[in-house]
Amino acid sequence: MRLGLFDSGIGGLTVFKKVVELSPNTSFVYLADTARLPYGLRTSNEIIEIAEEISFWFSHQNIDAFLVACNTTNSIALDVIKKRLNVPVFDLIESVSSVIEENRVGVLATPSTVKTSAYTNAILGFKPKTFVIEQPCPEFVPLIEMDQLKLDEIRDVAIGYLQPLLKENIESLILGCSHYPLISPLLVKLLPSNVKLIDPAEALSLKLKLFMDSKMSNFAKRNYLVDSKFYVTSDPCNFANRAKQWLNLFPEVKLVSLQKKA
Ligand code: DGL
Repeated sequence: MRLGLFDSGIGGLTVFKKVVELSPNTSFVYLADTARLPYGLRTSNEIIEIAEEISFWFSHQNIDAFLVACNTTNSIALDVIKKRLNVPVFDLIESVSSVIEENRVGVLATPSTVKTSAYTNAILGFKPKTFVIEQPCPEFVPLIEMDQLKLDEIRDVAIGYLQPLLKENIESLILGCSHYPLISPLLVKLLPSNVKLIDPAEALSLKLKLFMDSKMSNFAKRNYLVDSKFYVTSDPCNFANRAKQWLNLFPEVKLVSLQKKA
């Protein structure tokens, strides 16, 4: 099976990693729109326009299913993607919201995602009595993309973002941006031990595995290490280096343009 996977940058690598842990017999077409990140400060109209472009691009990639590995795009333009692609689409927000068990839930996400209240709405759709509090984190993605993970700056920023959530006695914390699992070790250190950290990619990869187990005989068996392809809209070298750090895989990364052609 060949999966399309999209994010603004290296955040999608955290989803990639979770998916291959459960389903190694797949290959990926990974697209990172690095020229336009961070998405988290963009308007809804910009994200919708981008979703049109990426759907158009993926519609020519011969994929069997598509993973929206970007929560910001997920919260604003999931419908656009579902309408434009003729394959099953798997998303982070609904996948994780359907399995939340705690009654008091915090969400860290980009400002654009928080503005939509997509997490609150999705969780309440499954469990109406849940208390949900969402915290916008504008500084995380730029720091993570610049590989500034060991600086005190990101620690101080994280403490500030967590404070309002901890005041509300949350029982679990959703990483509502696919870049954030890259700083889970820091967040674990800052959280009380009774707060469960939730990476939505786990729920997504489980859902995907169930789907694939039921359909695998329809699709060619592939090897993610050999058959995956990586594309970016700027700076392929930086992306390849970060993939090496995170996945221990040094992919060939190609530069593409997402301009829509008539
Ligand atoms: N990783 C993406 C998300 O899950 C986008 C982050 C960004 O570009 O701001 O929201």
